[in-house]
Amino acid sequence: MITYLVTGGAGFIGSNFIHYMFEKYGDDIRIINVDALTYAGNPENLKSVAGRENYSFIKADIRNSDEINKIFAENDIDRVVHFAAESHVDRSIKNPGIFVETNVLGTCVMLNAARAAWENEDGSYKEGKKFLHVSTDEVYGSLSDPKDYFYETTPYSPHSPYSASKASSDMLVKSYVDTYHFPANITNCSNNYGPYQFPEKLIPLMINNALTGKKMPVYGDGKNVRDWLYVADHCKGIDMVINKGRMGETYNIGGHNEKQNIDIVNIIIDTLLEILPEDDERRKNVSKELITYVEDRKGHDRRYAIAPDKIKSELGWEPDTKFEDGIKKTIKWYLENEEWFKNVTSGDYLKYYEKMYKV
Ligand code: NAD
Ligand code: DAU
Repeated sequence: MITYLVTGGAGFIGSNFIHYMFEKYGDDIRIINVDALTYAGNPENLKSVAGRENYSFIKADIRNSDEINKIFAENDIDRVVHFAAESHVDRSIKNPGIFVETNVLGTCVMLNAARAAWENEDGSYKEGKKFLHVSTDEVYGSLSDPKDYFYETTPYSPHSPYSASKASSDMLVKSYVDTYHFPANITNCSNNYGPYQFPEKLIPLMINNALTGKKMPVYGDGKNVRDWLYVADHCKGIDMVINKGRMGETYNIGGHNEKQNIDIVNIIIDTLLEILPEDDERRKNVSKELITYVEDRKGHDRRYAIAPDKIKSELGWEPDTKFEDGIKKTIKWYLENEEWFKNVTSGDYLKYYEKMYKV
C-alpha cells in the first residue's frame, strides 16, 4: 500500500486532492495530511474522510524540522505531495516575510526531511519514493504577446512576493534534483477554481459578495487574463505526475481557458440569476450594479496562459471539465454549502476584508 504524505491538505487544492485520491483509490492507499491550520486551513473541508482508517491528520508546521522529521521517522512515506504554502498574492504584497518563511524555508525543511528518510548510504534512494512540489504558473511572470504561452522552458520572471517565493522554492527543488539526484517532480499549474476555495480569491469572493449584496471589487480595468482550471483536473494531473512522471521533470498544467476578470464576474452574476429560484431571498441581492472598479493590485500581472503540451503528450493528461460546466458546478456547491461559507467568512475574514478593501 502506497503511503502519501500530503502537506497543506486542509486548504483548497489539498483537500480536493485528498477527496480525489480516496474516490479513485479507495482503501488501496493511505494518506497522512500534515497541515498547520493557518487561516486558510479548514478541517471542515475533510469532514467526510476524517473517519477513514486509511486517513490521518497531523497538525504540524512545515517550518518546524523537528515536527516534520518525527513524522518521517514514525511513518514509511512513499510519496510527498507538497501543497502547503501561503498562497494569496494580495497578502504577500502586505506581508512578504511569512511567504519566504513558509514557501521557501518550509519547502527546504520538507526536502531535507524526505532526503534524510529516503537516501541510501551510497547516494541512491529507496525504491518507489517521490516528492511532488506543487507550484504555480505565476513563476513565469506575465505575458504581453497574445500568441505567447508558458512552457516548462520559459524563463522564470516572478513579480509578486508570492510568486518570487514560489519561484525560489521551485529552484530549491531543482537544485536537490541536480545536486543529490533527489527523486522529485514540479508541477506549475494555472488558476484553479472549485469547491472549498477560501473567499479571498476572485471566484468565491465574487460569489459571496453577489449573494450578500456587497460591492464586487474589480482591480484596475478588469482586463487581466487568468487561465482557469477546474480543481479536480489539477488533482488528476498531480496524480499522474507523481505516479508516472519522469524523475526530475517539470510539468505545466492548464486547460487553455483564458478569461478576463470582468468576464468571470459577469458570468458569476448571470449564472447566479439563472440558477437561483425566483423566491430565493439571496436572489434579490444579485445585480451587475454591484460591480465596482477599484485601485489596481500593485505589480499586477496582465496575462497568464499555460501550454500543457508536455503533460498531454507524455502522460495523456487532459481536463475533463469544461469551464461552462465547472463554473455552474462550483456556484451550485457554494449555494448548497451556505454553512461552510458562513463559517469561513466570519471572524478573522471580516477583519481581513475590511483592511484589504477599506470598507
Ligand atoms: P490554500 O491557501 O487554500 O491552502 C494552503 C494550506 O497550507 C492551508 O491548509 C494552510 O493551513 C497550509 N499551510 C500554510 N502554511 C503552513 C505551514 N507553515 N505548515 C503547514 N501547513 C501550512 O492554498 P491552495 O490554493 O490550496 O494552494 C495549494 C498549493 O498550490 C500552493 O502551494 C499554491 O502555491 C499552489 N497553487 C495554487 C493555485 C491556485 O489557483 N489556488 C494554482 C497553482 C498552484
Ligand atoms: O495562477 C495561479 C495562481 O492563481 C496561484 O498560484 C495563486 O495561489 C492563486 O491565488 C491565484 O493567484 P491570482 O492572483 O491569479 O488569483 P486571485 O483570485 O487573487 O485573482 C485573480 C484575478 O482577479 C487577478 O487578476 C486579480 C483579480 N482580482 C482578485 C480579487 C481577489 C480582482 O479583480 N478583485 C479581487 O477582489
